[in-house]
Amino acid sequence: MTAADEPRPPIPTFPDGFLWGAATSSYQIEGGVDLDGRGPSIWDTFARRPGAIADGTDGSVAVEHRTRMRDDVRLMAELGLGAYRFSIAWPRVQPEGKGAVSTSGLDFYRDLVEALLEVGIVPVATLYHWDLPQALEDAGGWPARDTAGRFADYAEVVGDALGDRVARWSTVNEPWCSAMLGYAAGVHAPGRTDPAAAVAAAHHLLLGHGMGVDALRATVTAADPEIGITLNPYPVHPAGESELDRDAARRVDGIANRIWYDPILRGAYPEDVLDDLRAVSDLAHIRDGDLDVISRPIDAMGLNYYRRHHVRHRRGASASPSPWPGSPDVEAVDPGRPVTDLGWAIEPDGLTETLVDLWRDYDAPPLYVHENGAAFADVVGPDGIVHDADRIDFLDGHLRACAAAIDEGVDLRGYFAWSLLDNYEWAEGYRKRFGVVHVDYDTQVRTPKDSGRWYAEVLRTSREAA
Ligand code: NOJ
Repeated sequence: MTAADEPRPPIPTFPDGFLWGAATSSYQIEGGVDLDGRGPSIWDTFARRPGAIADGTDGSVAVEHRTRMRDDVRLMAELGLGAYRFSIAWPRVQPEGKGAVSTSGLDFYRDLVEALLEVGIVPVATLYHWDLPQALEDAGGWPARDTAGRFADYAEVVGDALGDRVARWSTVNEPWCSAMLGYAAGVHAPGRTDPAAAVAAAHHLLLGHGMGVDALRATVTAADPEIGITLNPYPVHPAGESELDRDAARRVDGIANRIWYDPILRGAYPEDVLDDLRAVSDLAHIRDGDLDVISRPIDAMGLNYYRRHHVRHRRGASASPSPWPGSPDVEAVDPGRPVTDLGWAIEPDGLTETLVDLWRDYDAPPLYVHENGAAFADVVGPDGIVHDADRIDFLDGHLRACAAAIDEGVDLRGYFAWSLLDNYEWAEGYRKRFGVVHVDYDTQVRTPKDSGRWYAEVLRTSREAA
């Protein structure tokens, strides 16, 4: 049933203080790549590579948030957002990735925070959402240990500048994507296909996170700081009964979930994951003391949830599977559910599963859903509005999944829709739209979709219930 067919049952009531927000990231919305003396990022470079981006576009204009920020904050206030999760572009703050700081770059984020606070929206800042300064990639990128140290310096600069007004911080967004898609699969910037480099990148992203936590602890003075990280765990289900199928699922779970959870929350890599990784890496990049830094206590953890993984051993592949999880002997299986415009199966109960599993298996801090949403093939109606009942169904189902996790005892403290605005969907370019607000890319006019209006109503009702 869709919104047009019959009224939906009301969204369950969420606990007092539950943070309702929407999220974006710097490269996906800002544009203005020549302003503030911003240096190039790996995405500027990667997007120029022929064939790298489905529609051949880049983020140089995006949705011009760099110059339209005040209007966008006004829009957020009109929607009634309680919180806004944004990321800070490292090359806008430190064009070379180290040393000199751009005052106007930092001022932009100061102004953004000020504008949010003026209308009562809680700022939630992410330090790294994939736009590594190109100069640091030229010096080795995340596979090089030095990048973690540079990240800590950058975290200190930003913590110094914003830490009196911003209490909620995420160090790194979805390090799985940066490491695996960027350095092993090569489908995200910087587009390398070197599994050993990806394993080192994963470790240095974790190390950078831990060093970033220290830097933020030393600089954030706002009351009740919540410093953490944002991961994108996938519940992994074996699509088959054989030992080989179960092992394929174990390996994917290892690289998607446990390689992040365990070092951060338990201070150790899982032994089976290390064994898998030894096939492609000597692991010499892991040094004594690193795990102590990586497992610094955090106050909150953000999870981004989009879908599950259903995997099995590829029929006909060698009987002795390669230990590398991205290896050709692992096959993704379609679970036969409706899909989004990216072909991702819609499984809201996977969000409950993600939250409940993490809460049950680890000693985790309070959790937030830092991203959840869907791309659909939106059509602007004759009335100028996108009537996206499919996106409303998606968000509605996932909010109920959050409520179910809370009922099972998970300390979930907030939910952020991805995304506030249609934006640059990385290697997909502008063709895949995730916004609850439509953006006309020719005119930059923003128009809330039905989902945006629906979400505003959910926020209004929850405020009234509180
Ligand atoms: C997660 C990423 O953090 C975000 O940048 C991306 O647009 C969404 N997934 C959708 O793919």
